[in-house]
Amino acid sequence: MSRELKLSVNIDHVATLRQARRSPYPDPVEAAELAEQAGAAGITAHLRCDRRHIQDDDVRRLRRHVRGKLNLEISLADEMLVLAEEIRPDQVTLVPERPEEVTTEGGLDVVRGAEAIRAGAERLVAHGCAVSVFLDPDARQLEALAALDRDLVPGFEINTDAFTKATLGDDELLIGKELEKVQQVAMRGADLGFQVFAGHGITTANVGAIAAIPQVEELNIGHWLVSRAAMVGISTSVREMLAAMRAGRRG
Ligand code: PXP
Repeated sequence: MSRELKLSVNIDHVATLRQARRSPYPDPVEAAELAEQAGAAGITAHLRCDRRHIQDDDVRRLRRHVRGKLNLEISLADEMLVLAEEIRPDQVTLVPERPEEVTTEGGLDVVRGAEAIRAGAERLVAHGCAVSVFLDPDARQLEALAALDRDLVPGFEINTDAFTKATLGDDELLIGKELEKVQQVAMRGADLGFQVFAGHGITTANVGAIAAIPQVEELNIGHWLVSRAAMVGISTSVREMLAAMRAGRRG
């Protein structure tokens, strides 16, 4: 029997709504607490260099209030590493960041950036953080990551963006092709001894196929959950997602 699939709720867009008016509400920390009460195993926040949603103080407060795993997404910018060293989240996921992008556009380029990843991961591990890398479902990227010490980078998050985007259309061949890429990297990653996570663009409509990949331990989901929460509340949206994940894993 395969392990239970965990959900890490990304609360960035609760902060997006707050920042739209520079008001004190809605509070992403309150959303994190409600998400955990509804069954989330952990919380993810992405601190971007432009501070468009999550602020430094949100991360400090999340550190104090999150009971499960706190996963902080950051780029390798020195400013971000310094903050992570101070706040010491349970896990840091390293992501690329382009100031003009609407959301993270792709995985980190491990083939070209292995040395910078190694240097950043050494700093984070020295401060007690587990390190994960956001990775495109690309065998070359995975092999480059595998060349790094597993004690330094024990896990990676598969970028599901191409698959989830494909599911918005009706090109079944493309959907199957993108899903297979995710499946292949999950399988190879687990064989190499990595913890395998996945995320980006996941909704209750497309989570089933990802949840069915036994090597995937945890999903990182934000935009759908917060969008749905605007209609039905965060507790209900988290419960709906957990039910869809469990159905997908059961097959
Ligand atoms: N994983 C990473 C690395 C991300 O940058 C994001 C978006 O912030 C997510 C997962 C979650 O994606 P979504 O908000 O589309 O669920």
